Amino acid sequence: MLAADPWGNADPKLGKEHHDKACVACHISQQGGDGSKMYTRDNRLLSSKLAILKRTTACNAQTKAGLLPEEVAQVAAYLNLQYYHFKE
Ligand code: HEC
Repeated sequence: MLAADPWGNADPKLGKEHHDKACVACHISQQGGDGSKMYTRDNRLLSSKLAILKRTTACNAQTKAGLLPEEVAQVAAYLNLQYYHFKE
């Protein structure tokens, strides 16, 4: 059996909505384009699923984006599905 994802069975589709509302504008102002370079740049910070969840939690808190814990989990699931593609 595969190890469980750190975000449980959170729905990445819901995560996209929260991400587009709470997170993307600032990343666009940092990285230009659609902001996705934040997750795909050569010197990106993250290298595991757990790191995505931790960083998503931290960014939510630091920026007062206001997402609930289950919404943070959905965003982390979305970021892995769409950009990071980490297996563990
Ligand atoms: C006010 C600006 C701002 C907001 C809002 C913001 N971020 Fe960020 N985020 C940043 C900056 C700046 C960095 C790059 C930090 C660095 O390079 O040290 C970053 C980096 C990240 C990374 C790591 C990217 C990598 O290198 O792999 C993730 C994941 C992330 N943010 C998720 C989120 C999520 C999820 C939200 C919404 C809940 C969010 N951010 C909202 C400014 C923001």
